[in-house]
Amino acid sequence: MSAIPAELDIYEEIERLRKERKAVILAHYYQESEIQDLADYIGDSLQLAKAARDTDAEVIVFCGVHFMAETAKILNPTRTVVLPDLAAGCSLADSCPAPALAAWREQNPEHVVVSYINCSAGVKAHSDIICTSSNAKRVIESIPEGKPILFAPDRNLGAYLIRETGREMDLWQGTCIVHETFSERELIDLMAANPDAKVIAHPECEPALLRYAHHIGSTSSLLRYTAESGHKRFIVATEPGIIHQMEKANPGNEYIPLPGQDEGCACNECPFMRLNTVEKLYLCLRDLKPEIHMTEALRVAALKPLERMMELG
Ligand code: 13P
Ligand code: SF4
Repeated sequence: MSAIPAELDIYEEIERLRKERKAVILAHYYQESEIQDLADYIGDSLQLAKAARDTDAEVIVFCGVHFMAETAKILNPTRTVVLPDLAAGCSLADSCPAPALAAWREQNPEHVVVSYINCSAGVKAHSDIICTSSNAKRVIESIPEGKPILFAPDRNLGAYLIRETGREMDLWQGTCIVHETFSERELIDLMAANPDAKVIAHPECEPALLRYAHHIGSTSSLLRYTAESGHKRFIVATEPGIIHQMEKANPGNEYIPLPGQDEGCACNECPFMRLNTVEKLYLCLRDLKPEIHMTEALRVAALKPLERMMELG
């Protein structure tokens, strides 16, 4: 990767290359604000997967983490999919290697395997259906009553779904390193200091924290709640990158990010998401790498459970 000349205006270059390459820039809500402002489309995991599936752009620059870019490639294989930093992983995806999921499935042949989209293509390929945080309830409810369920890899989302749907599920014990770090104690202190603020939380948070939430949902659902609930002050129990869009949509509101457990740390920021930078975005548009590749056999196997999810609407 060659260095960027100091005199280069990378914002101008990104505009030029975006047209020249017929590229679309997709960004998750947890990306840094500068990347969100450059994106053609910003969204949650499901919205971005649909945008990737439906785009006629020749290049998809995926500003998010690896499993998201991989999903874009599975859904739209004729496009070049690039990710600004290939090391942008996810602790949930890392917690669940495909051979281990395959073994779990083999030990439980009667079960339906539901995997959260935060997993590798290999895990998707061994799953019956995929869900995201915005459609997970609907996906679980689509499984016939009485059919046992294995849910991977997020034990917190799984536990939340058990409470919401009343369905029994065996849970893989993965967690998100960002959402598991939020402190209940900090939350109680913030709630006491801001009694009028509503607590909004992503279902990847620990159950102990979720019981304080006035609204639980995917990133897009949290964003919608801050815009439509009529409330003005919010304690935000998810990655604070989302606050950029909240402030843009409703600048008059106040958004208080919930800190992580260690004082002064930035551990409420996803270290994987934050690996992407505007400079790396420019370089991947210029060099068309790092590119997402997979074998056609793996792609086709991983596509099936994603299509089942998409069919649910
Ligand atoms: P959303 O689908 O809600 O955007 O969640 C993605 C994610 O990685 C949350 O940590
Ligand atoms: Fe994965 Fe958590 Fe980062 Fe989302 S916030 S990408 S679940 S590590």
